[in-house]
Amino acid sequence: MKKIDRETVQRILDTAEIVDVVSDYVNLKRRGSSYLGLCPFHNERTPSFSVSKSKNICKCFSCGKGGSPVNFVMEIEQISYSEALRYLAKKYNIEIKEHEMSDEERERESERASLFAVNEFALSHFESNLYDTSDGKEIGLSYFYDRGLTDASIKKFHLGYAMEQSDDLLRAATGKGYNVKYLVDTGLCIRTDQGRVYDRFKGRVIFPVFSVSGKVIAFGGRTLKKDMAKYVNSPESLIYHKSNQLYGMYQAKPSIVKHDKCILVEGYMDVISMSQSGVENVVASSGTSLTEGQIRMIHRFTENVTVIYDGDAAGIKASLRGIDMLLAEGLNIKVLLLPDGDDPDSFSRKHTSSELEAYIKNNEVDFIQFKIGILLQGVENDPIARSKVIADIVRSIAVIPEPVTRNIYITECARRFDIDERIVSAEVNKQVKSLIEKAAEKRLKKSAEESLDRLEEKEEEETSRREKDIETALRNAEDSSGPSAFLRKFEKGLLRYVLRYGMLDLCDSVDDDGNISPVKVIDYICDELRMDDLTFTNPDVLSTFNEAIKTSKEDWESDRSRNEAILTEKRAQYIAEGVAHLRESETDIATIERKEKLLMETADSMYQEGMDNFAMLYIEKSLSSHPDSAIRNLTLELVADKHVLSKVHTKYAHIETDEERLGELVPRAIFEYKDAILECRIRKLHDDLKRVASSPGADPQEIRALMEAHVRLQRLRGEFAKYLGERIINPRK
Ligand code: GTP
Ligand code: MN
Repeated sequence: MKKIDRETVQRILDTAEIVDVVSDYVNLKRRGSSYLGLCPFHNERTPSFSVSKSKNICKCFSCGKGGSPVNFVMEIEQISYSEALRYLAKKYNIEIKEHEMSDEERERESERASLFAVNEFALSHFESNLYDTSDGKEIGLSYFYDRGLTDASIKKFHLGYAMEQSDDLLRAATGKGYNVKYLVDTGLCIRTDQGRVYDRFKGRVIFPVFSVSGKVIAFGGRTLKKDMAKYVNSPESLIYHKSNQLYGMYQAKPSIVKHDKCILVEGYMDVISMSQSGVENVVASSGTSLTEGQIRMIHRFTENVTVIYDGDAAGIKASLRGIDMLLAEGLNIKVLLLPDGDDPDSFSRKHTSSELEAYIKNNEVDFIQFKIGILLQGVENDPIARSKVIADIVRSIAVIPEPVTRNIYITECARRFDIDERIVSAEVNKQVKSLIEKAAEKRLKKSAEESLDRLEEKEEEETSRREKDIETALRNAEDSSGPSAFLRKFEKGLLRYVLRYGMLDLCDSVDDDGNISPVKVIDYICDELRMDDLTFTNPDVLSTFNEAIKTSKEDWESDRSRNEAILTEKRAQYIAEGVAHLRESETDIATIERKEKLLMETADSMYQEGMDNFAMLYIEKSLSSHPDSAIRNLTLELVADKHVLSKVHTKYAHIETDEERLGELVPRAIFEYKDAILECRIRKLHDDLKRVASSPGADPQEIRALMEAHVRLQRLRGEFAKYLGERIINPRK
């Protein structure tokens, strides 16, 4: 492919209009100065996709996707920037002046573009077979004529013919320089295990499948012989996801929007015949049951769907479930049953277009009504079967998202079964409730899984960080004075939490009598150290830590109560002033009540914030003015960046602060400290071992004992690592 020159790019960017571009995909309604529609990038029932004509951009307020016309096209078509420009150029009839691409640029052209290109080639090849070869005319074209198709329809749907020779397309395409790889990747050709490559669609008439925007993404090939599978279709590929496509959508789109209605049929021929008869808003699900992706695609253009059935009762029953999905999407569904023995194709050929339109108009019935009719066939007088039918209908009604619509159906259902409306209503509501619960459960599970993933990621990060810390510490230890230098970093890590958050509650502890009491960060750390009989080895860390403990005990209770009294007083004053002001300035009672409530809430949160801040600053305030300069300096060093950070957190979006993650961070710091101590001991053993082993006349007993101890510690370390992974403490609050 060639590259687009800069001037043309600018012209495309200047010309493309966002409302115009988006409207090809989304049914937009005017809302004030902008336009609104259902977001094509995620599943939704209430529109949050907003388009601004003046700014020439679009944006989904729910999922955040959007941008300029080019961005929009890139996203919706999943194509590159230059492909999107080409798309827009074509749409606006802008001629593209191109320069030859370099080899390197050609190489970079996306794989998707290659697949589209080879499909595009195949499309024109199949079409020219149909018109320009004798087989094509005698076999393919005459088949279409036999089925009653006009030249216009054949052209409109780009029908074609694949020659009988099994390498016809392969030769033609490779002859034009198309890579066999892409022929195979699109499924146009098949590569056998032995490596032979041949045409998938040989000897079949071709129904190309287009994307919503008109790109050829797949083909269906119908055999004209008796003893073969009737249809062969393209397999899934990078550019074709069957479950998100509907046959005929590209051609039907304008008519669907115009009539605000989409007709759903089963087969390729049904679409084409109806369209030829003048009913053009028709698409096919191509023989499979409907998927959510297909439903969403319909919903982008209209809320009204008519499903045409030609099958027998059993076939219809089987497809009822797919229709419940349409209901759940919030679509209005009608159903049309064709006279016995007719499918949409044969029916449209037998009737004029006005007869067809009239038939649809007069015979389509509401889905719930239709479903009741189908299910009740033959069981009208069987009370047990009847109640089963009622339960089934109730389930269908319950999935409808719109309460008003639900109520209409409840009334209808009660009337049809001649039962009290309140009973139906109660049943439906029960179902609705359980559906909501299920949905909530699903969401909960999903978010739990996600946070677990995130946790694992973080875990990995922390592990590698810890390994690096140990390495650095070891390196430092080598050229300074033994274990205390090595441990300094870890000891300081713990002290940092003591100084910053020591008086905050970390978790709950339960004593033997079942009494629950909060455990402060500082107490938690003390307990952990005492449990393993550990003492900090760096003198300044140790003395600062001891001072912190002293501060936390001495006057804490009385200082805290004093602060509490002050804050309570402040709160009362704030409320009194606020209320007085309200009474003066407002006259409406409801407004006063609302504002008073707000006032209380503000007062409460001010009070709580005051209490928290007091606790958080208690230790660091006391120690940062400590007479001992070693303690003072270490404290200042360790609390230095705290406040700056907090401000950043609140000003810009919410980033989890350390305070909020204490339950996770503190135990981790303890673990890292203990792990470092183990590392020290292992290293010491290792050195001892080396020394003993290399000394002349070494005692084998001693060596064995040292080795065993070494192994034991290594194993302990391994268990530590596992333990860290599992350890999570739920923070209070
Ligand atoms: P005609 O028999 O020519 O009228 O075809 P039709 O397009 O009306 O198809 P029909 O109603 O028999 O089937 C509906 C759709 O199911 C077709 O359009 C195909 O998408 C699909 N289908 C039918 N038969 C086959 C098959 O043998 N294999 C596959 N993969 N799909 C099929
Ligand atoms: Mn058919």
